[in-house]
Parts: sequence; C-alpha cells; structure tokens
Amino acid sequence: MIGNDIIDLAKAKKESNWQRKGFLDKLFTEDEQKLILNSEDSEQMVWNLWSRKEAAYKIYNRQTGERFFNPKCFVCEAGEVDFGTYKYFTQTQITSDFIYTIAVTSRDGFETIQHLESRDAVQKQNGIPYWFDIVEGKLHPASITHHGRFARIAYLESTEKQFSFL
Ligand SMILES: CC(C)(COP(=O)(O)OP(=O)(O)OC[C@H]1O[C@@H](n2cnc3c(N)ncnc32)[C@H](O)[C@@H]1OP(=O)(O)O)[C@@H](O)C(=O)NCCC(=O)NCCS
Repeated sequence: MIGNDIIDLAKAKKESNWQRKGFLDKLFTEDEQKLILNSEDSEQMVWNLWSRKEAAYKIYNRQTGERFFNPKCFVCEAGEVDFGTYKYFTQTQITSDFIYTIAVTSRDGFETIQHLESRDAVQKQNGIPYWFDIVEGKLHPASITHHGRFARIAYLESTEKQFSFL
C-alpha cells in the first residue's frame, strides 16, 4: 500500500498560520507539539509532521474505505506513523521549497516506489487512484498529491498482496 503528500512551503506559509491559537492543539499530539516547539525550525517541523500524517491517512483510507478528520490519532514516531494497531513507514524529503512524504505498509515497499510524470494512465476506484500498467495489463496502487507549485504521482511497482484490496 502507498500514500504520498506534498506541501508547498510558500503556499502553506501564506495560507496557514501555525502559531494561531489552537492550531497546533487541533492537529498534533502533546509529544508532537513539544517536538515542534523545541525544533530549530518549528515551521518546517509542523509541515513535516503534517505531510506524514496525510500520507499515512491516505493508506488507511485505502485499506478501510473510511474518510474522517482525526489527525491527532495518527501519531508520528521516528520513521513511522501509527494509528492504533496500524503502522505506516514514512520517508520524507525536505527542501527549502517543499516537503514530500511517502508512506508504505512495509519497509520493503520503499524499494518498489516509482513516480509518474503524467496521470493519463491513472484511474480511480471509489476515489482511490491506481496506475494501469498497459504492458502487463495490471493495476498498481497509486497515490496522487498536489499543493501549490508541486505535484507527485507515485505507485508501487510490486503488486504482491495488493490485489486483495481491489
Ligand atoms: C485525501 C486527503 C487527505 C488529501 O487531501 P490534500 O492533502 O488536501 O490533497 P492532496 O493533493 O495531497 O491529495 C489529493 C489527491 O489524493 C488522491 N487520493 C484520494 N484518496 C487517496 C488514497 N486513499 N490514497 C491515495 N491517493 C488518494 C486523489 O487522487 C487526490 O487528487 P485528485 O483529486 O486530483 O485526483 C483529503 O482529500 C481528505 O479526504 N481530507 C479529509 C480528511 C483529512 O484531512 N484527514 C487528515 C488526517 S486524519
């Protein structure tokens, strides 16, 4: 399973004031808030943690079909995000322009991630994207994210165990 999330830092700065009263408390656990406030770059840490929660949420949505807003229940730990007994592994790329997270359900998944330039061969089932590999005639779980100036379409090359969720 795969989920991804990108944040355009300039757009986030313009549109969201993370220092506004109640903002952190609505989205982050107490430990996450401490991590943010003790960080050398608090703003970057806010969007780092948020992109990880969103990427993990996309997998959870794919696994269960549920959609809801409860970001404090997605708990960021080192290299992973936990939601109850569900565990998602995350890798986050941080640049001065954007923060990009990919989440997978097993560490091996990171090795089989590919990115697409175009969404032409992407189709959705129940709102969830899949990439159709025309050569193999197979659907691969995909994840789309766009924010401001940036977009990424990622898919899992390996489809082992994936079809049980189709
Ligand atoms: C899925 C969701 C979190 C993404 O919102 P976002 O970060 O604002 O926007 P992104 O661009 O990163 O993601 C949107 C894309 O995700 C894709 N997507 C939707 N569900 C997906 C899933 N389960 N897995 C992978 N991709 C998914 C869609 O293709 C969509 O792009 P498109 O409509 O252009 O095709 C949002 O649509 C949603 O459901 N929000 C309500 C719940 C919420 O915010 N929860 C936060 C954690 S509890």
